[in-house]
Amino acid sequence: MKTIYLDNNATTQTDQAVLAEMMPYLTEFYGNASSMHRFGGELRHKIDQARDRVADLLGCEAEEIIFTSGGTESDSTAILGALRAIPDKRHIITTRVEHPAVRTLCRRLQRQGYRLTELAVDAQGRLNLEELEESISDDTGLVTVMYANNETGVVFPIPEIAAIAKAKGALFHTDAVQAVGKLPIDLQKQPIDLLSVSGHKLHGPKGVGVLFMRRGTMLTPLLVGGHQEHGKRAGTENVAGIVGMGKACELAGQCMNDENERVRRLRDRLEEALLRDCPDARVNGTEKMRLPNTSNVSFEYVEGEAILLMLDQMGVAASSGSACTSGSLEPSHVLRAMGVPFTAVHGSIRFSLSRFNTDQEIDTVIGAVPGVIRRLREISFFHPQPDVTSAGPQERKEPLSIKPQ
Ligand SMILES: Cc1ncc(COP(=O)(O)O)c(C=O)c1O
Repeated sequence: MKTIYLDNNATTQTDQAVLAEMMPYLTEFYGNASSMHRFGGELRHKIDQARDRVADLLGCEAEEIIFTSGGTESDSTAILGALRAIPDKRHIITTRVEHPAVRTLCRRLQRQGYRLTELAVDAQGRLNLEELEESISDDTGLVTVMYANNETGVVFPIPEIAAIAKAKGALFHTDAVQAVGKLPIDLQKQPIDLLSVSGHKLHGPKGVGVLFMRRGTMLTPLLVGGHQEHGKRAGTENVAGIVGMGKACELAGQCMNDENERVRRLRDRLEEALLRDCPDARVNGTEKMRLPNTSNVSFEYVEGEAILLMLDQMGVAASSGSACTSGSLEPSHVLRAMGVPFTAVHGSIRFSLSRFNTDQEIDTVIGAVPGVIRRLREISFFHPQPDVTSAGPQERKEPLSIKPQ
């Protein structure tokens, strides 16, 4: 059975063209790019080419790109590196809906003595920019706000947020891991100081990422040792990964308009059908400012994990939260911050599409989900059951594994 993969915010399929470009650097050309001899040293050109490709996608200078091991390292480097360079500033502003790569780090810094403000979101997942403006003080070193949310796809107005932070003298970082490749980003037009990217979210390889660092931004490196990456990130370069990242960015730029529009149409069709065919379903997150590929749907009175298991048996891969938090039964901090009711938080499923999804796949999912929800509701303790006494004896199926908590 071929998997219908709708979990692209967790990770994406590596594009064959990316893989093809990486392969020589995993086999034949295994040198160290810092070597004096040509066998290694020539690899520097490939790294430079990748840097140019990333810079083209983001609208910045190649020198402003640092290669890292992924989104998490980029976030940590941006936040810790920036704060260490301005030790007198002890206040951080972030949001309640950040990915754990930012949220957990900010909370750890709070335990270490930083003052932390976590901005609230409304029921649609949107920020109040006045609250942001009022929160910034002379002591604020860093404002870090994600570009697009990994669970709901809600996109924050980053150009405006960055402008507010800069006007008040704070540094601005954005975790753009879910946005790059899905939204056009022009760093020439946005006063962002630091921006994080991850290779495996845009059909590149895992274990490689990018930190954009605007020229002139002060940063104390996290990894020290060799002089790689202009002394901003020590460690022998992951040449194949970097080459793959560059190719993935080039392809993302080429596919941006047409493919994202096609993906948006698939996503909208899926969403409309689910809302039509499944009673008590709702979409989480504002309709207007959302990633084109993401749909977070709550099916009231059923457990998201049970839905996922049944879909998995049918060959459909989706998610009940971010990949990092699934496995724990903690309800999503993002949906809780939006005030989504308990019964809906527990039945939420994230469908995240990519340019590799087809119309036929979406038709199959549209055909499968309503039956899954119906079957699970029949056995749900939460769902109001039909009155069996008036309608005569009814078939009652065995409960699967759903227990009230
Ligand atoms: C918004 C966001 N930030 C950061 C990360 C972490 O990126 P990586 O897996 O490359 O470390 C993820 C991955 O899920 C993410 O969605």
